[in-house]
Amino acid sequence: MSTVGQKALMAVSGILLMLFLVAHMVGNLKVFVGAESFDHYAHWLRTIGAPLLPHSGYLWIQRSVLTVALVAHVAAATSLALRARAARPVRYAHRRPVQGSYAARTMRWGGVIILLFAVYHVLDLTTGTLNPVGDRAHPYANVVADFAPERWYVTLFYTLAVLAVGFHLRHGVFSAVRTLGQHTAAGERRARVVALVVAVGLCAGFLSVPFAVMVGLVG
Ligand code: HEM
Repeated sequence: MSTVGQKALMAVSGILLMLFLVAHMVGNLKVFVGAESFDHYAHWLRTIGAPLLPHSGYLWIQRSVLTVALVAHVAAATSLALRARAARPVRYAHRRPVQGSYAARTMRWGGVIILLFAVYHVLDLTTGTLNPVGDRAHPYANVVADFAPERWYVTLFYTLAVLAVGFHLRHGVFSAVRTLGQHTAAGERRARVVALVVAVGLCAGFLSVPFAVMVGLVG
């Protein structure tokens, strides 16, 4: 596939993954409404499309789409990185000290942290294998047990992963808005602000849940 095609694939898969993250973050905020509301929401997710779709049918479609998007995103990123290296097999003797933003430079390691987190997260809150409660019918209880103060290391890992998602997204949104927006200094400034607002908003929304549980606001 051409380099431009691979970049388009990165963009489309990235947008899909981001839409999921925004929906997931907003859904998580139901934890502040109460156990009944949160558990009801989780139950509703399994009934979307009924009676046309079987129980959890929609969830499996979403899982398939997200998996394909994730594989495409990582494969395109790897292929583009390998091509960039092949195009310049000999490293520059004098590398310019700062290349791109902090977010741009942390995309690869950030991506690895997010992938490791995704595996842990599914075993924790979807299958319940690594969760102290692990009751699939009552996700509220799983979340409350997960972020109990004595399990601060779980909250720490979630925080690291959410921050990695934030940096990752800031770079992704910035690139997308800059591509679609005006190619001027003002356009670039706007792209930077939009990216920062989206990333901070998403991080704050996600992190509000574990921290609310840890300080006893939710329980
Ligand atoms: C503090 C933040 C988060 C909390 C409290 C949280 C909570 C949850 C819960 C309770 C579920 C199970 C929902 C259900 O089965 O009905 C879930 C599923 C999921 N979460 Fe999160 N989540 C958080 C952050 C994230 C992040 C940052 C990502 C992505 C990088 C993510 C990706 C997913 C995915 C893909 C699923 C669906 C897994 C599946 O059903 O196959 N979550 N989350």
